[in-house]
Amino acid sequence: MNSHASHPKILPATPESIRLAGQALRDGKLIGLPTETVYGLAARGDQPDSVAKIFAAKQRPSTNPLILHVGDASAVHPLVVMDSAITRRRFEAASSLWPGPLTLVLPKSEAVLDCVTAGGNTVAVRVPAHPVALQLLREVSLPIAAPSANVSNYVSPTRPEHVTDGLADCIEWVLDGGVCDVGLESTVLSIADPNAPPTILREGVLSATKLESVFGEPVLSASSSNMELPHPPSDAPTASPGLHRRHYSPRTPLRLVRETEHASPANNDLRVLRIRLRGPANSLSGYADVWSLSAVGDPLEIANRLYETLRRADSGEFDQIEIDQMNVEDWIESGNANLIAAISDRLHRASNQDDAPLGR
Ligand code: TXA
Ligand code: MG
Repeated sequence: MNSHASHPKILPATPESIRLAGQALRDGKLIGLPTETVYGLAARGDQPDSVAKIFAAKQRPSTNPLILHVGDASAVHPLVVMDSAITRRRFEAASSLWPGPLTLVLPKSEAVLDCVTAGGNTVAVRVPAHPVALQLLREVSLPIAAPSANVSNYVSPTRPEHVTDGLADCIEWVLDGGVCDVGLESTVLSIADPNAPPTILREGVLSATKLESVFGEPVLSASSSNMELPHPPSDAPTASPGLHRRHYSPRTPLRLVRETEHASPANNDLRVLRIRLRGPANSLSGYADVWSLSAVGDPLEIANRLYETLRRADSGEFDQIEIDQMNVEDWIESGNANLIAAISDRLHRASNQDDAPLGR
């Protein structure tokens, strides 16, 4: 299933290929876009036909809105309405973190298509911190809609070949931007409601401490369980409709287990892969193989390797995957509680067995 970097649709990122990709976008075509978080499936965001191609390629429900990517913060102004001084101040503060792994949700302007926002009155915007993405966005100077470049509900892509693995037929090319630095999707933060605190809708690598120091005010973290409420609180600016369970799952049955749990005898007839979050690989018996995401237990390294590892684990070699759950209280000392929550959240979404223990 895994292809290799020599796929004909993987283009080395040169000024010429970036120009070609820019032309393809202007022509309404889809391309694979490297960002620092995950690869995006990009199309111009100002034309319904090109936006429709994204939803078709991903088999994404039209109820799940897209992020518009732009080359710098000033390009956001035509896309949003900031008629409150509080919102303008928050936007100025938050945009100091751009380019970066932060998506801001704001009231949308008339310029933004309903198909981008899934009919909602807010829009998600981001300036990604990847040199190739920035060059391309600045060259096309159009808002570029880009969800993660995976078929809906599959694992997000962190390498160019992950994009061609699932979506080769839908894209013109994917620009080779190497392995994504972060490896986990951006933090989605709503500043749409001036009467509510800035609110994290999807956890990512940014810590609340960092955000609070930038805003100079408290930031609300919707916990992953809150985000999964079928009915969002009525005062929520917008729920993140993409945040349902089973959102990032491999095809192979995947179960979350306690870090201390050993192979169960029931595994005997199955080729079970155990993925540990930390510690040495191959340190448990009774498994077909044991991998470790981070020998030293560094959450940034775990985040960085998670999706790639899930894709490798899903190559067909194993009948079942068991992966350690990340209990927040066991990881408190490692620092960034938001990143821990982000990883824990993605692990729960990746688990696709009904008996998977559910975290808080
Ligand atoms: O890191 C990322 O954000 C990557 C790269 C490519 O930029 N993109 C990404 O896009 O993860 P996607 O479509 O896979 O996830 C976007 C998330 C979804 O959970 C979606 O529901 C939420 O952002 N979202 C988009 N527009 C929204 C809005 N107006 N209000 C609330 N949530 C929104
Ligand atoms: Mg996605």
